[in-house]
Amino acid sequence: MGKIGFIGGGVMAEALISGILNSNSYKPNQIGVSDPLRVRVKELEQKYGIECSIDNQRVIESSDIIIIAVKPQHIENVLEEIKTLGKSTQIIISIVAGATLYLLASKIGHNSVVRVMPNTPAQTSDGMIVWTADKGISQKHHPVISNILQSLGKEIYFEDEKYIDMATAVSASGPAYVAIMIESLIDAGVYIGLPREISKTLVMETFKGSVNYLDKTNIHPTKLRESVSSPGGGTVEAIKSLEENDIRAAFYKAIKAAYTKYQTLGEMHK
Ligand SMILES: NC(=O)c1ccc[n+]([C@@H]2O[C@H](COP(=O)([O-])OP(=O)(O)OC[C@H]3O[C@@H](n4cnc5c(N)ncnc54)[C@H](OP(=O)(O)O)[C@@H]3O)[C@@H](O)[C@H]2O)c1
Repeated sequence: MGKIGFIGGGVMAEALISGILNSNSYKPNQIGVSDPLRVRVKELEQKYGIECSIDNQRVIESSDIIIIAVKPQHIENVLEEIKTLGKSTQIIISIVAGATLYLLASKIGHNSVVRVMPNTPAQTSDGMIVWTADKGISQKHHPVISNILQSLGKEIYFEDEKYIDMATAVSASGPAYVAIMIESLIDAGVYIGLPREISKTLVMETFKGSVNYLDKTNIHPTKLRESVSSPGGGTVEAIKSLEENDIRAAFYKAIKAAYTKYQTLGEMHK
């Protein structure tokens, strides 16, 4: 569908550009990027053969789909430029954390807007991406948007925007929870005497293997836990200790705390 223009040529924009080009759904001459940094613009131009500029106006005026990929502190200026220079026939996709549909539509002046929340593994196309759209986006646009977002990983569309804050607490903050579990297990391995590098390999491979195993067999995590826990064995001893330390309650509280925070931040945009 026509041309895609990125406002902001940082890490996430590059992940999208590289994924979109690899999927062959758009050609380099159908992609444009603007970024204030001249060296960055040159780098993207040379690497992908796409049209790059330090001028947002060029990208806004020549694109059918505009993807806003700037940091949250810069979004207001970008929305102002799109309002002045853009057209109501354009689709505006924002990947900016916390930018609600209300903020996007009210600042731009039309409701063909899409709110996307990716997570950090999206940088290597291993992301979990959730998205929602305002009334100006019809069902016929959905495959086009899904197709673009699939270059970052697995995508899920929500009809109701309220799920975005919930998903943000689970999947966007999620890599931090996984990282702290991995860190803790590596340190625990070192604590009982394993060399640190060995402990790291054991933990990383156990995470990857367990997730792949659950994915491939489609069994419930409870079944996996039960199958590893032989009666009176070491695993149940560890599980008993985790339960005594309220591991489940700790996750419930943590996710609720994140969700409450995202709701509060969202309210600030209303
Ligand atoms: N990275 C992630 O893992 C991740 C995960 C979830 C969501 N996100 C969201 O994705 C968005 C982009 O993140 P990112 O990691 O790609 O950020 P980034 O690497 O900092 O990229 C943003 C780019 O936008 C440029 N920029 C700033 N103001 C601009 C303007 N007015 N017009 C055009 N370009 C402008 C920046 O240039 P300067 O550096 O010169 O300012 C920078 O090159 C953020 O809003 C973030 O919330 C990112």
